[in-house]
Amino acid sequence: MRTRPLKVALLGCGVVGSEVARIMTTHADDLAARIGAPVELAGVAVRRPDKVREGIARELITTDATALVKRGDIDVVVEVIGGIEPARSLITTAFEHGASVVSANKALLAQDGADLHAAAEAHGKDLYYEAAVAGAIPLIRPLRESLAGDKVNRVLGIVNGTTNFILDKMDTTGAGYQEALDEATALGYAEADPTADVEGFDAAAKAAILAGIAFHTRVRLDDVYREGMTEVTAADFASAKEMGCTIKLLAICERAEDGQSVTARVHPAMIPLTHPLASVRGAYNAVFVESDASGQLMFYGPGAGGAPTASAVLGDLVAVCRNRLSGTTGPGESAYAALPVSGMGEVVTRYHISLDVADKPGVLAQVATVFADHDVSIDTVRQQGKDGEASLVVVTHRASDAALGGTVEALRKLDTVRGVASIMRVEGE
Ligand SMILES: NC(=O)c1ccc[n+]([C@@H]2O[C@H](COP(=O)([O-])OP(=O)(O)OC[C@H]3O[C@@H](n4cnc5c(N)ncnc54)[C@H](OP(=O)(O)O)[C@@H]3O)[C@@H](O)[C@H]2O)c1
Repeated sequence: MRTRPLKVALLGCGVVGSEVARIMTTHADDLAARIGAPVELAGVAVRRPDKVREGIARELITTDATALVKRGDIDVVVEVIGGIEPARSLITTAFEHGASVVSANKALLAQDGADLHAAAEAHGKDLYYEAAVAGAIPLIRPLRESLAGDKVNRVLGIVNGTTNFILDKMDTTGAGYQEALDEATALGYAEADPTADVEGFDAAAKAAILAGIAFHTRVRLDDVYREGMTEVTAADFASAKEMGCTIKLLAICERAEDGQSVTARVHPAMIPLTHPLASVRGAYNAVFVESDASGQLMFYGPGAGGAPTASAVLGDLVAVCRNRLSGTTGPGESAYAALPVSGMGEVVTRYHISLDVADKPGVLAQVATVFADHDVSIDTVRQQGKDGEASLVVVTHRASDAALGGTVEALRKLDTVRGVASIMRVEGE
């Protein structure tokens, strides 16, 4: 074993960073044995230098992250600050000064992944980010390496623990959205400002990263269709139950049936209770991958939290250190397929539509005609009448989102349709 240690600069020492530092210290001997050289924490950049950081020598703490990554003797920079700046500048500066980078930063990778990969390649360095998608769950490496010989057609996942916790509460207790969110906040599953989670921004960033790797195509954050889950109601869950389904916020990355384009989207959807993703409870994450040769694979585990996320960061750190010792780099960006990324209109799926209609003869025929006119074939219809008004629940066969959009627009124009109470996609069948 080499005795000269590999030097690691830790940028950020919060929920994830403090766990990275703890594991680096407590597992130092095992990490050294697995890497073939000791790893040394050479500096820790934070915002508040006076905060007590257990187990970290005071002289390692600095507020000057730029000076730390410019030192020139740093082998690996671990970026766990989060956000776009200063993380982006620090990572590119790290490459320029000879370091490889491990990051957990989904927002940055989804927005600027291509540029960061190019910078890493230009300097012959590694950029690893297993922790950026689904915390502890090994996903990036299986997609990049284990499935490198296969053809991935679909990635379907629950990649945000906060929203899964809220939806699971609504499902199991009958609570409304706000009540379930309040409980998630009280238990520490939701942040004070839950927008990034409940509006699907966090899941969309992860979908962009996953789609890019799965389809060897650059998928930008703007390419991902995004719909949050704040509008899901207890009534939607009741409808889902009647269909033998539950509701999950899903990230779905798909290759079109002709293989010539891909789509990436995040939205709430009904999935059958028999689908493995339906049994993913609480704040857990799971990702279902379908590929030509392997068939269906499921990856499941804790998608966030200090120690689980640090596990993924440490795995990357070991891999990058091994590469460093053998004078090589791991796989970089693979975007050779360069498939066009289609918009939501091209997506083909099934729909559950709930309409408030007048309770009189001929309404059902009128509604059915609108569906037929737009080439959307109906699978089932259920009608419930009450005091001159009725609700009509229509479940369709597979149709494009564009065709469904046209159908709904025409339905809204019918005198007998009082309103479209909800539209929910049905996935996983
Ligand atoms: N938390 C999770 O469960 C989780 C899961 C997966 C991925 N991630 C990702 O991991 C990253 C870190 O998340 P986190 O939850 O650990 O965040 P966090 O608890 O807010 O910690 C952020 C750390 O960065 C430091 N920092 C902030 N601005 C800085 C600056 N300008 N210069 C130097 N240090 C600065 C903070 O310093 P102070 O300590 O002085 O405030 C803090 O130590 C994010 O990209 C996040 O998306 C987190």
